[in-house]
Amino acid sequence: MNESSPWINPLRDPRDLRMPRIAGPCSLVIFGVTGDLSRKKLLPAVYDLANRGLLPPSFGLIGFARRDWTTEHFVDFVKDAVRDRCRTPFKESTWSNLIHGIRFVQGTFDDPAAFDRLSDTVAELDRDRGTRGNHAFYMSVPPKAFPIVSKQLAASGLARSDRDAWRRVIIEKPFGHDLTSAKELDRVVSEVFDPNSVFRIDHYLGKETVQNILALRFANSMYEPIWNSNYVDHVQITMAEDIGIGGRAGYYDGIGAARDVIQNHLLQLMALTAMEEPVSFSAADLTAEKTKVLSAVRLPKDLSLNTARGQYGPGWQGSHRAVGYLDEKGIDPSSTTETYAAIRLDVDTRRWAGVPFYLRTGKRLGKRVTEIAVIFKRAPHLPFEQTAVRELGNNAIVIRVQPDEGVTMRFGAKVPGGTAMEVRDVSMDFSYGRSFTESSPEAYERLILDVLLGDPPLFPTTEEVNLSWRILDPIEEFWATLGQPQSYRSGTWGPSEADEMLARDGRHWRMP
Ligand code: BG6
Repeated sequence: MNESSPWINPLRDPRDLRMPRIAGPCSLVIFGVTGDLSRKKLLPAVYDLANRGLLPPSFGLIGFARRDWTTEHFVDFVKDAVRDRCRTPFKESTWSNLIHGIRFVQGTFDDPAAFDRLSDTVAELDRDRGTRGNHAFYMSVPPKAFPIVSKQLAASGLARSDRDAWRRVIIEKPFGHDLTSAKELDRVVSEVFDPNSVFRIDHYLGKETVQNILALRFANSMYEPIWNSNYVDHVQITMAEDIGIGGRAGYYDGIGAARDVIQNHLLQLMALTAMEEPVSFSAADLTAEKTKVLSAVRLPKDLSLNTARGQYGPGWQGSHRAVGYLDEKGIDPSSTTETYAAIRLDVDTRRWAGVPFYLRTGKRLGKRVTEIAVIFKRAPHLPFEQTAVRELGNNAIVIRVQPDEGVTMRFGAKVPGGTAMEVRDVSMDFSYGRSFTESSPEAYERLILDVLLGDPPLFPTTEEVNLSWRILDPIEEFWATLGQPQSYRSGTWGPSEADEMLARDGRHWRMP
């Protein structure tokens, strides 16, 4: 078996590596199954898992939604979603096996009778398909629906595991709006579900390249000696998107870029980049190291100088004319929600003292790219003429999370020929696509399978979520006192405030 075999979970305790990673008898119940996330990500991921032979033959898939559909109608809906977005080839044999376990339950969250029907459907799957009482409930619904769904599940006896059967709940972000609401959400969910049965999804942790941060740092000997304040000047974590908010006005307005992705994806990337080596890759050991980093984060004293916000105005995205945020359908024309956010954070540990971490994210930027750039200090002495090194930048290691997943190293090399010595930046590149023939599974494939296996390392804990809000809350409170965010033209790299923020520190943003 090679390392990229689907049987091996690289974040599993090494003692378990021989165990096949096929889910046992079970079903997945999706609330909000007609929504975008389910159609674009969850249903195709379920099919891809089945196609890879990682789901049990008895697998059950139950959709729960308000629409007045029959199971036949729902099966067509699932098939369209799968055909549209599946990663692996569509095979009739996989599909015809999956179809036997598909059910639809019509109802609203406040209707106990609908949950009785759900309970009957689950019992029917247990009896006829052999799902053996093992069921995962995916809350692909707004957080305000979590309490009522949780309570209904409890009332219909579906929420608690017992000795022979497990029940798990999968919660999609946002995990609250701030620390207080996150704690309240947690209280509500933990009243119903056992804490070990709660899986919070941060889909970035399911991305292969994010897991590769750990491989890069801890499977090699050449990075760790320089991965600290002796050598690193600063770190830039960028998550840029070229899309706008699409049809998500209802979710996005009032939430904004920082709550949408910094609180979760970017702080998780930062924690993985900055943490110490974990004792093992078990959930407990990983979370111990990540929480140390998040606890050691220090906010800058002056937030007006060390944070920046922006909102996209009209512009061009390639050849496509883009409307400004305030003209998007469903957005309040006086909205002050930011679609771009940049913040500087420091990590108060010996390893990172004096090394700023700059995090930025935005919609309608120049292109779609997520990367972690570790920028090194200049060599302490350069035995060259000043003119020879004028085009030499700082050395850098850039982990490209997406697209074109891989790692690039930037360093100086002699320009060939010429009478005088001249040194210029060059790069050395590792690309997943070129080095491996297997394509990476989608993040949701990985995460859904981990839930069905009860394998928790890739899911943030309550403590991580709370610590992340502790970091973000003062920034949000400060921004709430300001007026309209600075406008930036769609298709550019964000507001000038963000450039000025780095320029004040004598640095500049990388052009990814
Ligand atoms: C989601 C955010 O978590 O991540 C979206 O809510 C964002 O606003 C999306 O577009 C980006 O995900 P990915 O995997 O395409 O980088």
